[in-house]
Amino acid sequence: MKIAYNVFPFLFVVLLFIMNSANAEHNAINDTDVVIQPPQEKTVQIVTACDGRKKVIVEGYYEGEVMPVEKSRQVAQLLMSLMEFCEEEITAKLPESERTIYVSVNGLPFESVRDIEELPLILAHGDKPHTERQQRIWKAEMDRIIGEGYRLFHDPSLGKNGISCDMCHPDASNTHPETYPKFQTQTGKVALLRDMINWCIQNPLEGNVLADDDQRMKALESYIISTRAGKILVPGKH
Ligand code: HEC
Repeated sequence: MKIAYNVFPFLFVVLLFIMNSANAEHNAINDTDVVIQPPQEKTVQIVTACDGRKKVIVEGYYEGEVMPVEKSRQVAQLLMSLMEFCEEEITAKLPESERTIYVSVNGLPFESVRDIEELPLILAHGDKPHTERQQRIWKAEMDRIIGEGYRLFHDPSLGKNGISCDMCHPDASNTHPETYPKFQTQTGKVALLRDMINWCIQNPLEGNVLADDDQRMKALESYIISTRAGKILVPGKH
């Protein structure tokens, strides 16, 4: 009997030990939870130029973060410099601490430049800014869209009554694209060239207006503007 009483404190200690180790195991699981979280990605903000082919990766700022004015100016100037090399695809990287700029041209590995002035060396354009091949492609594309505009200008299918633009504007005469934008009494507000094109489609031709991104609108504008190449722009002139 006496011996049995002496055993109780011992059992109590054993019980405490078991409970403690169970708790420790639980903590261990929690620790593992923390460890298996994915490692934090490097914070960067990617700024893309309007041609979609030049990018600046700004390290140390997250997407959408407002950068200090010094930094945003540096990014804007860098993008402007990159835009000079219009046909190339260029990604520049601005590290957080170093002053070096890393540049990758047309998917090639990044090279470091101390100054953006060094870019032409990397691009190695030589004296010619654009190759003959590029110029041929650009001209062919221009001829194609202007030709399409010419065809539409002479095509009554833009409307519903058999009338086409050329019947009143032979050779695109009196379309005055160089005077746009300008106030138009017909619409009571400042119009772009395309608004007047649509106005004439709706009125004399009794057709349906063309959306801004309609390829036919782009073609008509291209043809009309091409007939006034070299003219001085006088927006607002009547
Ligand atoms: C029935 C004759 C007629 C037809 C057909 C016609 N237009 Fe016009 N268009 C006019 C007249 C008249 C004006 C002048 C409106 C004004 O400025 O007051 C005009 C104005 C314009 C202007 C603005 C010119 C300016 O001086 O600002 C453009 C651009 C134009 N037309 C394009 C077109 C196009 C494109 C078509 C074919 C989809 C077309 N027109 C069909 C009679 C016509």
